[in-house]
Amino acid sequence: FTKPVLAGVNVIVTAGGTKEALDPVRFIGNNSSGKMGIAMANVAADMGAHVTLISTVHDYLNSPNIDEIQVNTAVEMKESLEKVFPKNDVLIMAAAVSDFRPMHKSTQKIKKDADKDLYTIQLQKNPDILKEISKKKDKQFVVGFAAETENLIPYAKKKLYEKNVDMILANDVSKAGSGFNVDTNEITLIRRDKEPETWPLMSKNDIAAKFWEYYDEHIK
Ligand code: PMT
Repeated sequence: FTKPVLAGVNVIVTAGGTKEALDPVRFIGNNSSGKMGIAMANVAADMGAHVTLISTVHDYLNSPNIDEIQVNTAVEMKESLEKVFPKNDVLIMAAAVSDFRPMHKSTQKIKKDADKDLYTIQLQKNPDILKEISKKKDKQFVVGFAAETENLIPYAKKKLYEKNVDMILANDVSKAGSGFNVDTNEITLIRRDKEPETWPLMSKNDIAAKFWEYYDEHIK
């Protein structure tokens, strides 16, 4: 990018899957690689924005405009986000946040029992970070993702209203080349009172570039 069109814009991006510990060596997680969020962060920084990246994965960064906060769990992600949210203009919530966490974290590695075949983990609901942070919205433009395997647009629209966000970038994570842990994605951009806009399958970097150009043109 030749022109730093996002100079002066402060952006938060969350990336990666949260890791909810069961014991010191095991966790409940998901297949998010962090690629989608990191592309959003890198492109925004290239376009001149200051980026705070709150992430569970810790590589691929290529800009001095990015401050990284490392987290593991949904609760840590929420606490870090709450601290930086008031100073920022845009939030991109690309992280795959676990909806549940183990009720108890064992301080020692859980042992298997020679006489026991069945084990039970009790799960506790995690906070809905996006829904909670949207209640604290002032000037911020808040973008959520929706990871769906069916009824992409209706389900994503429901999230737009229920989580009270300004935009949802919906991806059908059951489609080949789309969603978790691949370099490409197919996005449908959803806003209130606007027709959904489906972009063709493209690299996550190209999606990030298209998103930030859209932001510069229509939102900023
Ligand atoms: O990381 P990659 O491998 O590149 O994969 C990218 C991706 C598929 C993870 C990404 O494109 C994506 O869809 N991210 C959102 C995944 C998700 O958690 O979707 P959801 O539909 O369950 O949640 C909707 C929104 O609420 C998301 O913005 C999510 O960050 C947020 N959320 C969800 C649950 C929760 N407890 N708190 C939240 O804030």
